[in-house]
Amino acid sequence: MKLSYFHGAEDVPKDFRSDTAVVIDVLRATTTIAWAFTNGADSVQTFIDLKELQQESLKWPVEQRLLIGERGGKTLKGFDLGNSPLGVTPEIVKGKRIFMSTTNGTKALNRVRDFNNVYTLSLPNRSAVAERILLDKTDDICILGSGWEGSYSLEDSLAAGALASFLLESGSESIVANDELNAALALWHFWKDDLQGCLRVASHGQRLAGIGNHDDDFACCSELDNLVVVPYQSEPGVLCAY
Ligand code: MLT
Repeated sequence: MKLSYFHGAEDVPKDFRSDTAVVIDVLRATTTIAWAFTNGADSVQTFIDLKELQQESLKWPVEQRLLIGERGGKTLKGFDLGNSPLGVTPEIVKGKRIFMSTTNGTKALNRVRDFNNVYTLSLPNRSAVAERILLDKTDDICILGSGWEGSYSLEDSLAAGALASFLLESGSESIVANDELNAALALWHFWKDDLQGCLRVASHGQRLAGIGNHDDDFACCSELDNLVVVPYQSEPGVLCAY
């Protein structure tokens, strides 16, 4: 299995193809998605365009829809929730279709919506997604971070390294196909005993800390392998979960 890592949607070469894409937004979109499914959400539909999100959401009965939106870490006006994994409690999300738009995570998902298989990964469901990939016996994987508005993101690279490390140590014949992933693996080995420390050092971690107390988000987003849920794209732009 050939493993490549790209820091953000803009870094994936135009003609790049792989069987499977794994999208990562540790702080916080893919952690929120993992918790939403763990707590019983029916599906998550992701959007870049907010008008399109509003229009699509109106096709669902009001009691079955939930709008999650964030820009720059702050909740969008008129949305039910911001993008905190702590907000998606069972009482709020059970049975609902979530309509979601975030600064970077939903852009990364949009970049790979034409791929055959798409999964979303966070630190809490790292091993669950890795086990699923091993079952798929896929030939090549595009691991895609979300970055921040086109620039590099430390915490997404940490999680890319965490996934690659699991796959390389699993006995599967995995190979690292680019230096972005070699660097992500080095990052993982450097920070693996202090995941929360890494998230707090990261520029988006500092952005979140700057706009208010996000201690619970840091704790939740830095937990490792404590969720079994595997979000996958069931149709373009829509995620369900195994
Ligand atoms: C994003 O998509 O950029 C993030 O998930 C931002 C956040 O809510 O922390």
